[in-house]
Amino acid sequence: MVTFKLGDQFMLGTATSSAQIEGGDTNNTWYKWCLEGHIKDSSNCINACDHWNRVEQDTELLKNLNVQTHRMSLEWSRIEPFPGEFSEEAMKHYRDEIRLLVKNNIKPLVTLHHFSEPIWFQDMGGWKKPFNCEYFIRYVRYVVENLGDLVSDWVTFNEPNVYTSMGYLIGIFPPGERNIIESLKVMAQIINTHVRVYKLIHEIRREHNFNGKTMVGCAMHLRVFDAITATGKMVAKAVNYYFNELLMVGTTTGRFLFPLSLMGGGDKKGIYVDFLGINYYTRNIVEFVFDPSQYFYLFVNDRSLGKSDLGWDIYPEGIYRVCKKYYDRYRLPIFTTENGISDRKDNKRPDFIADHLYYIAKAITEGIQIERYYYWTLMDNFEWLEGETTSFGLYECNFKTQERTARKSAQLYADICKNKGLTKDMIEKFSKSGHFTW
Ligand code: NOJ
Repeated sequence: MVTFKLGDQFMLGTATSSAQIEGGDTNNTWYKWCLEGHIKDSSNCINACDHWNRVEQDTELLKNLNVQTHRMSLEWSRIEPFPGEFSEEAMKHYRDEIRLLVKNNIKPLVTLHHFSEPIWFQDMGGWKKPFNCEYFIRYVRYVVENLGDLVSDWVTFNEPNVYTSMGYLIGIFPPGERNIIESLKVMAQIINTHVRVYKLIHEIRREHNFNGKTMVGCAMHLRVFDAITATGKMVAKAVNYYFNELLMVGTTTGRFLFPLSLMGGGDKKGIYVDFLGINYYTRNIVEFVFDPSQYFYLFVNDRSLGKSDLGWDIYPEGIYRVCKKYYDRYRLPIFTTENGISDRKDNKRPDFIADHLYYIAKAITEGIQIERYYYWTLMDNFEWLEGETTSFGLYECNFKTQERTARKSAQLYADICKNKGLTKDMIEKFSKSGHFTW
């Protein structure tokens, strides 16, 4: 375990999303998906962390962590429960929530689309119908006009690569389609919509003279794909292209790479993000594995690395590699919009956080402009297909009693946030034999 310093300007925070914590909303696509029986433990996001009714209590948790910033998302289905009918009550709720953050010196970073959508939008054909992006843009206009004075920093889409591959290619997220052509069309729609939303947010904040520098980006899930053999390397390259590149290039520059280019329309050349939003969790090794029953390209684990509860390899150097790669290409500031681990026993999380931040500090000393880090997540929440079975939280959440309990790594993270680094004293305070295992 080694010390590191992130610099006074660096901001640390936590990230959450509405459908995963709020509970109580029957208008969004994930509620329906849960009812249809797709969730591992049969739980339903209607419960989650009941955050909708516990905003003040949960803001106290953020204060205890000494975070300087917090990433949250808005639930479109609450704000616009019926097409064209906006809920002033929902808007007021979010205004109050954000005002409370600001009052406590916690800078909000607000996501407009984090996987869940109104059921009515999906019933109208969702992103498959080109005209439907107008509905999303109308919602964004309403939101930014109502919150733009409090919020200067926005994320348009969360992990559009995960959203399109899980929802339209593999079919395990709503709307459950398995069609590569449709998935590519949806990618193209999302890129075009992102570009329009980017311009719109800037325009509205400028027109109203809202305070603060407008920062708009997209939170991309970036994975490292490595391989051992020559054929494995070729496949890893292809997977990287499909999963990382198409949408990273698309949302950053508006450009459609092949095969999106076949759809036409992605010829705007420019830069349509003010920061690169990077969600980094793990690396995959893409290899040809001999199995008597099947010959298959698979993601294999690196046996030498530790694993999360979900079996994901813990590979901290990956955060450095993805940040370096995209900073070298675009020279734009980076926000690591998510990084975290499911670790119920909390004996891997402390090292996980310290090691990833160590690599961020290393990147910063090399001139890579990483400005923020958001730990995923504040408290255990509804983890999509995994339901209530994972533990990404700095706080444990008992879904029955809604009691929140700080894990020990919450104390470590609070100290890191306060010191903007890891000092020798902190290592002594938290570690046994140089490792944060307790
Ligand atoms: C990224 C997603 O944005 C978030 O919703 C999810 O909970 C985490 N990954 C953990 O899987």
